[in-house]
Amino acid sequence: MPLHSRLLERIDGLGKRRWPSEFLWGSATAALQIEGAARADGKGDSIWDAFARIPGAVAHGDTPERAVDHYHRVPADVRLMKDLGLTSYRFSTSWARVVPDGRSTNSRGLDFYSRLVDELLQAGILPWLTLYHWDLPQALEDGGGWAARDTAHRFVDYAEAVHDVVGDRVDHWTTFNEPFCSSLLSYAAGLHAPGRREPRAALAAVHHQHVAHGRAVSALRSRGVEQLGITLNLTTALPADPEDAVDQDAARRFDALANRIFLEPLVRGSYPADFLEDVAPLRFEDLIQDGDLEVISAPLDFLGVNYYHDDVVSGHPVADAQFAAATDRLIASPYVGSEHVTFRGRGLPRTGMDWEIHPDGLRALLLRLTAKYPMLPPLYLTENGAAFDDVLVDGAVQDDERTDFLLDHVAAVADAIDGGADVRGYFVWSLLDNFEWAWGYDKRFGIIHVDYETFERTPKQSALAFAALIEAAGS
Ligand code: NOJ
Repeated sequence: MPLHSRLLERIDGLGKRRWPSEFLWGSATAALQIEGAARADGKGDSIWDAFARIPGAVAHGDTPERAVDHYHRVPADVRLMKDLGLTSYRFSTSWARVVPDGRSTNSRGLDFYSRLVDELLQAGILPWLTLYHWDLPQALEDGGGWAARDTAHRFVDYAEAVHDVVGDRVDHWTTFNEPFCSSLLSYAAGLHAPGRREPRAALAAVHHQHVAHGRAVSALRSRGVEQLGITLNLTTALPADPEDAVDQDAARRFDALANRIFLEPLVRGSYPADFLEDVAPLRFEDLIQDGDLEVISAPLDFLGVNYYHDDVVSGHPVADAQFAAATDRLIASPYVGSEHVTFRGRGLPRTGMDWEIHPDGLRALLLRLTAKYPMLPPLYLTENGAAFDDVLVDGAVQDDERTDFLLDHVAAVADAIDGGADVRGYFVWSLLDNFEWAWGYDKRFGIIHVDYETFERTPKQSALAFAALIEAAGS
């Protein structure tokens, strides 16, 4: 599908913006969302395999069992990446494939990642490895999951097992992807696996994931890894009425839960004081052991930032009781007896996830991080993208909305760099249409379309535009 000349001109202009040398242009995926092969070569159940079997947990009863069959298609998928000119590929390893029962490593599972890394390197693509993108072995959940401190120790064993096999070829290591989701959405809101609605367990999950991160950083560091980081989804909370004290407080609480409790232990070695006060009834501080915060705040080499949207929040209840109950479970549940936090729209266009499209929120976020946390290491946009209802017509997908979305957000990154943010890479979410967690397969985020029956891959217009951008930027 040829790109029309106005689009090419725009891409050319964007490519000529001031990109740092060796800026990474990549795409991101996660093991559970694309691999399939749920029982191949000794893989065990992850919490998502088990969760998807609960009636009603995942839309349409979709399961990750086959996903998009990436497990059996690595050479062809890497060829697609190479054709797009990607300079880096962000993927995750599946803990349940590597350590099926949570304790003993499975060499056949590890072989898969070794082959993937070899293919990437042969194609000249930098592997960017994430250890935890939400697929805890079910065996560990049976022992308490992230609510149990022991899971943090098991994570270090797993990190070392992966490093044993690919550590000679992978330089960039990310411990966790979006711990907000794998703690609060998973253990408080019950929207993600394992589907628990236990506020204290959720806070324990927050702390234990931090501990797991810190201990894995120290283990990998002592093995000589020089590029270590974590990826957070940082969501700016804007008060619906900036003059209204109730809205301001809702924004403060949301900012604490969504951002500050994840970022500040890492960079400041402490949890925010207002959060500790708010959650005192849940005895959060009893979970913190001597030395934890020093381990958690070990220096990092990069911070991954995932951006999809920012949020306008209010402390006033909304009329839709069902909606209010869901957001309460999500946001307010760890705050015993707190006020509501509800989300408000601004009338902006929305993606297929019903998220408002606001590229300037990305520029603002990157600049706010830079100003507020001067101690931060270099930033990488480790995810940005959008789901839309794509249609394949005559072998092509003309996804104008996604194409605009990506170019507008890349421009926002360029603006942030001009404003002083140290951003060194941009990864599109996602390479392929895939299993979008509790939403199942309907929400297509890929720049490459996947036919879920035949698994045929078709690059969408957005993929061609991204490839043209990479070329124009001359990386
Ligand atoms: C962030 C998550 O890391 C990814 O797994 C998910 O598919 C995207 N957001 C889109 O919701």
